[in-house]
Amino acid sequence: MELKEAIRKRRSIRRYVKGAPLAEEDLKGILEAAMMAPSARNGRPWEFVVVESEEKKREVVAHHPYCRHLLDAAVGIVVTVPGGYDKVAREFTPQDAGAAIENLMLEALDRGYGTCWCGIYPDPARSAEIAKVIGTDRIPIGIVTLGKADEEPAARGYYDEKKVKRI
Ligand SMILES: Cc1cc2nc3c(=O)[nH]c(=O)nc-3n(C[C@H](O)[C@H](O)[C@H](O)COP(=O)(O)O)c2cc1C
Repeated sequence: MELKEAIRKRRSIRRYVKGAPLAEEDLKGILEAAMMAPSARNGRPWEFVVVESEEKKREVVAHHPYCRHLLDAAVGIVVTVPGGYDKVAREFTPQDAGAAIENLMLEALDRGYGTCWCGIYPDPARSAEIAKVIGTDRIPIGIVTLGKADEEPAARGYYDEKKVKRI
């Protein structure tokens, strides 16, 4: 798929074909794409926790009501960064994580999978709860559900001249 097409076609997928496989080489390629993202001072602060067991999926969803589609997705990928909450807020790491997440989602689309970004940061309670579930002292920034899409939301056009200022 052309990059232009992927960017315009990507939509959040909230319905997945439960039990549909995720090829190991696709998962690796998708994580590699995430790690190719630009990063402030090339700090590459992110780590990725792949949530694949039913038990852990249920635990994540129990603390994230807007990520229920994880239950049918092949996996959820939690992107984490280091540091205490205040430190993270002052630094670039959440932006690094955002860039990695977007790369991950576009690569997944190119490989035939749907995704949905579910925000965690900067809600301190949700960050702490999800960190506990996945067993880390790092800060979870977001979780991306990933799997075979069971819906095909139409592409949308968003270009808005009013959001652009030329100086
Ligand atoms: C930081 C962030 C947090 C988000 N959190 C959620 C979420 O918790 N649950 C969800 O279903 N979608 C979530 N989304 C997806 C947005 O709702 C979605 O991108 C937006 O409605 C535009 O739709 P589209 O992705 O299909 O273009 C999030 C997106 C971003 C960037």
